[in-house]
Amino acid sequence: MKISLSSASWHDVQCNWLIVGVAESPELSGPVEKLDLALGGTISRLIESGDLTGKLAKLLPLHDVPGISSDRVLLVGLGNIDGLTRARFEKAMMTAVRKASSKDGMTVAICVPEAVTKAVGSATAIETTATAAIVGSQGQDSLKSEQGHFPMVSVSLLVEGAESQAATDAAARGTTIGEAINLTRELVNLPPEMIYPESFAARARAVADELGLRFEALGQDELEAERMGALLAVSQGSTRPPRVVAIRYQGGAADAPTLAIVGKGVTFDSGGLSLKPSESMITMKCDMAGAATALGAVSAIARLKLPVNVVGYMGLVENMVSGTSYKLGDILTARNGVTIEVQNTDAEGRLVLADVLSYAVEKGADRIVDLATLTGACVVALGEEVTGAFTNNQDWCDGITDAAAVAGEEIWQMPMFDHFEELLKSDVADCRNIGGRWGGAISAAKFLEKFVEGKPWVHLDIAGPSFASSNTPHREGGATGCMVRTLVEAAAALAR
Ligand code: BES
Ligand code: MN
Ligand code: ZN
Repeated sequence: MKISLSSASWHDVQCNWLIVGVAESPELSGPVEKLDLALGGTISRLIESGDLTGKLAKLLPLHDVPGISSDRVLLVGLGNIDGLTRARFEKAMMTAVRKASSKDGMTVAICVPEAVTKAVGSATAIETTATAAIVGSQGQDSLKSEQGHFPMVSVSLLVEGAESQAATDAAARGTTIGEAINLTRELVNLPPEMIYPESFAARARAVADELGLRFEALGQDELEAERMGALLAVSQGSTRPPRVVAIRYQGGAADAPTLAIVGKGVTFDSGGLSLKPSESMITMKCDMAGAATALGAVSAIARLKLPVNVVGYMGLVENMVSGTSYKLGDILTARNGVTIEVQNTDAEGRLVLADVLSYAVEKGADRIVDLATLTGACVVALGEEVTGAFTNNQDWCDGITDAAAVAGEEIWQMPMFDHFEELLKSDVADCRNIGGRWGGAISAAKFLEKFVEGKPWVHLDIAGPSFASSNTPHREGGATGCMVRTLVEAAAALAR
């Protein structure tokens, strides 16, 4: 999909859809006022009749627009301009793009009004619009015979100062991030018969090859040699062999610190012998969203050539039921020697991450962020839209939450009080893999902390926000690609 910038007037742009943001304000101004003139007062009349309110993300398509070059106009509400944030602007753009991309072969022009560039900054407005154009035009229905969304033939961003290098950079950055988000979404949305440890690893290799990144995949034998007893136990009930993938981007100096982005990649979580009921299992293809996010983020960071050193680590297994499944009461020895009593085979993500985290530390990670669809408890605590953050290092956690604020994504830090660790005590091993009924997202994080050897670490529990249960006007259901933006921003901040 071609995204270009233009300072041409919307008046003369030939396209199938002209998207124009309208503020929730009684007076017409900027491009909307000019559009009203060109359309002979149509917009004023629509406001008067109450059909056009400018409320955030409300759409009003106009199909009959003589007097301008575009076939149709799509008015989209921006809400109160004084309260406009990046996240709200994105919601408006996503809603509009989803509407305009519901038919194949569309050419689209998006007017980015000065009021918006003033409110959120010119680069942010351009970047956000480009990302929305890419993400909003890809659906989760690639395997349907008739699709609901189609990448546009071309998207032209109409903005003041379109010729500037800053504008060009912002559009390119938004495009790259949008493509990375779509990569993450695509992998998560594909069914578990198509995405399993080997096929995920093959896809990661293809990404690495394309970008010239160093790639490493450990199979069963290598994982045994690495003593990854916790990860291997989860995998042992499956006919699909496990993989641990590392993909390395060296954008900084050789002696500069390395950021490890570690992802939980359970390509299907049946719960194992602690079997999930069907309603909970239906969406468990999403349990590799952490790994897909790590891959998406590293690909964007590399494509943007950020001057940082980043390694993405993906722990890829299937959690299945069979005669060879790991069992309740089993005592596993993790890679770092910690012994773990298994009390629930559905608390498998932490076992996978335990070994991958200690591997990342040994391979020289100076700071770590992990992403995991780890606990239903986190969804109970924070709802379906908010990522939970857990840390052993407040400065690094602030780095991540600040990046999320810039990126317009929602994160909330959870406490890590000492007493939560006691919930993990076992009579027969160093610890057990569940913490009991209450505070389950925190005890899970406390478990992970045992494997990062004191390195600055942030754990992001994305069980809620990584996967949406249904379509809404501003977002396709299924995988969301959440946290790709935040990770790119966090890496960019480290580079500064
Ligand atoms: N993959 C699940 C967590 C999950 C729940 C992800 C809902 C996405 C949506 C994880 O492996 C799991 O099953 N966690 C258990 C832990 C419990 C057994 C301690 C849970 O949350 O119930
Ligand atoms: Mn589970
Ligand atoms: Zn899981």
